[in-house]
Amino acid sequence: MDIAVLASGRGSNLRAIAEAIDRGACTARVVAVVSDKADAAALAFASGRGVATAVVEPRAHASRALWDAALAETVASFSPDLVVLAGFMRIVGASMLARFPQRIVNVHPALLPSFPGAHGARDAIAKGVRISGCTVHLVDAGVDTGPILAQAAVPVLDGDDAARLAARVLRVEHRIFPMAVRWLVEGRVRVRDGRAEVGGVDASQRLLWEAAA
Ligand code: GRF
Repeated sequence: MDIAVLASGRGSNLRAIAEAIDRGACTARVVAVVSDKADAAALAFASGRGVATAVVEPRAHASRALWDAALAETVASFSPDLVVLAGFMRIVGASMLARFPQRIVNVHPALLPSFPGAHGARDAIAKGVRISGCTVHLVDAGVDTGPILAQAAVPVLDGDDAARLAARVLRVEHRIFPMAVRWLVEGRVRVRDGRAEVGGVDASQRLLWEAAA
């Protein structure tokens, strides 16, 4: 299965997925890394591995819809079976969703449906929750609202700020995102009534607890 990864920044989730593929834990191929930012470290990582890259910058387009259409064209040019949003800090629009229906997967740094949006860790700290984590979900037209594939929990510790919590959450992202991508690659995911069902997976694997490090 061919995967296109969309990333805006440092690309540690891209690396986690690439490593899972390298060690044979996921039978797939990253065919392209596409970014909205020309200086994204994820692009350099991809180039270093000989993976094709592309940049589709919003400022080069007159509207969000036109940018989204250009993004969909660019991503489709690599003919991916699956689109993986790995730290892609923009909301994909109607063109992307139409081109890749239920074939776009995202990782979010909070336990959805709590704290959607761009500041999952900061918002969790501000609310004073004692447990947070991350969520892997299919992308739909809402913001972080699509069917949930996997979640992992981490404690929020006294003295945490958004950066410390985000770092702890990131470690579990690196564990469950490649796992959920593997489920999609293996065709184990079915969506019924807005809910994802994952076949052949022990339920206990779907929520991991990471002890305080
Ligand atoms: C992750 O925390 C992800 O959940 C969020 O952005 C961060 C991206 O990190 N959407 P990286 O670029 O994969 O290192």
